Amino acid sequence: MNSSFRKYLPFKQIDLPDRQWCNNVIDKAPIWCSVDLRDGNQALVDPMNLQEKLEFFRLLCDMGFKEIEIGFPSASETEYEICRTLIEGNYIPDDVTIQVLVQAREHLIRKTFEAIEGAKNVIVHFYNSTSTLQRKVVFKKDKAGIIDIAVNGAKLIRELTESYEGDTNIRFEYSPESFSGTEVDFSVEICHAVMEALGSTKENPVILNLPNTVELCTPNTYADQIEYFIRHLPDREAAIISIHPHNDRGTGVASAELALLAGAERVEGTLFGNGERTGNLDIVTVGLNMYTQGVDPKLDFSDLPKYKEVYERCTNMKIHERTPYIGELVFTAFSGSHQDAINKGMEYMKETDSPYWEVPYLPIDPADVGRQYEPIIRINSQSGKGGAAFVMAHNFGYKMPKQMHPEFSALVQKKCDELGRELIPSELLAIFEDAYITTARKYEIVGHPTVSEIGEDGNMVRVTGILRTDNDPATDTRISGDGNGPIDAFFHALEDVGISDYKFVDYSQHAISTGSDSKAVSYIHLMTPRGGSIFGVGISGNIYRSSIFGVLNAINRAELSK
Ligand code: KIV
Ligand code: ZN
Repeated sequence: MNSSFRKYLPFKQIDLPDRQWCNNVIDKAPIWCSVDLRDGNQALVDPMNLQEKLEFFRLLCDMGFKEIEIGFPSASETEYEICRTLIEGNYIPDDVTIQVLVQAREHLIRKTFEAIEGAKNVIVHFYNSTSTLQRKVVFKKDKAGIIDIAVNGAKLIRELTESYEGDTNIRFEYSPESFSGTEVDFSVEICHAVMEALGSTKENPVILNLPNTVELCTPNTYADQIEYFIRHLPDREAAIISIHPHNDRGTGVASAELALLAGAERVEGTLFGNGERTGNLDIVTVGLNMYTQGVDPKLDFSDLPKYKEVYERCTNMKIHERTPYIGELVFTAFSGSHQDAINKGMEYMKETDSPYWEVPYLPIDPADVGRQYEPIIRINSQSGKGGAAFVMAHNFGYKMPKQMHPEFSALVQKKCDELGRELIPSELLAIFEDAYITTARKYEIVGHPTVSEIGEDGNMVRVTGILRTDNDPATDTRISGDGNGPIDAFFHALEDVGISDYKFVDYSQHAISTGSDSKAVSYIHLMTPRGGSIFGVGISGNIYRSSIFGVLNAINRAELSK
């Protein structure tokens, strides 16, 4: 047996027996900070160029982000130039604060202060790594040495801010990088030392960002770390608690949600979860998870397809089909029972005008995120009887009677099996038109049948026309019949020429708009001479003729399948 798993140590739990976070709920949006242009960008095979960063920055502003980490200006000339362009080109709205990341190292901090000159609002975000592992294998320093790095950085930042001549509003953020791998008491100690060095107050609080730099534990343990930190931090009101979850275990969203329950006030993350390794926290998912609980996320998610387009173009990354809310397949139901339930939910919404979203299998109204109802149901050989009919009704306006669903569904399933794949809505329409409307013809009416009202008070109708058989003009026969409606009259006309074996079962009719005008669609249900059931569909600008065509199409289908 492979015993390599033994080389991994289980994550140490936090001693917090009276934890409170599990009793809390998320009832308001946190402060959001997008780190797409820094953490997300540094994880791209080809980092964004200036134009792409500007476009992405605009998108983030449009979505409502008020804090945006734009990069690491001391890290490279390109990063520096991008920061300068944003500032000098007046790209930054007055109510948006740009955030710049810097290691707690003197020359980098000085360069960062040069980079932000002239900006209106800036968060200078400095960090050093504090985890047990990094102290041991990377920095080879003890705790005091690590605190010194942070405090020296903080002192220099304070000094540069106090002597800063411009009228930039500068705030501070400190990250004990790899917080989740750090003894939580040590995180408290170093953060408090930084607060003192910066002179943080309630009026001018520091942002303490507690990153799950590498996600090493279950979300409940991260939540314990956050709650423990908050409860033990002296001068708590002089700090804003921020989180920055990564997604190594695939639970970045859950970690963020539980950390919010634990008291975090601010969330750093990226759109669609781009970022180092398995990515950062996906802000779109966390925000929409709140939205679907009736909490205003304070970000605009109303046009996700547009965000996806910009994101994919600028980052060259692809969003997976199953990504919550935006994946191509997330509003698609393949299973027949799901389709049926969605169908019923949609009907229920219409009938009751419910103010609440109550559609099974769809946790959110696709329209709320700029998606459409049409692709909700795709049709494959697993689809139920209602699925294909639902697509026909929603996409093309054909409201087939319920009794017709099994027959149409069988035609669709046959086609799926033939092609060995799912069908798209236009293929369904082709099957429908082929089978029911332009069906091959044994009988046809040459020209138009005429329908006139007869009888004393016009309560009878007469149908007349020329019936052609097997497409042969030599067979043309004038037919005429009277009845209490067009269907009855047409049946009598057919009986006169010997077509008398079909029995009328039922019909339904509705209007359908075709471009600018409206037509009548008739669904005719007949019983065949052998006792089978068959449907035909007629369409015409004239309501009577649409029934007549429906009867004829049903008979033709039956005759040709003999
Ligand atoms: O993941 C991380 O720890 C970071 C810090 C620099 C905040 O990105
Ligand atoms: Zn990060």
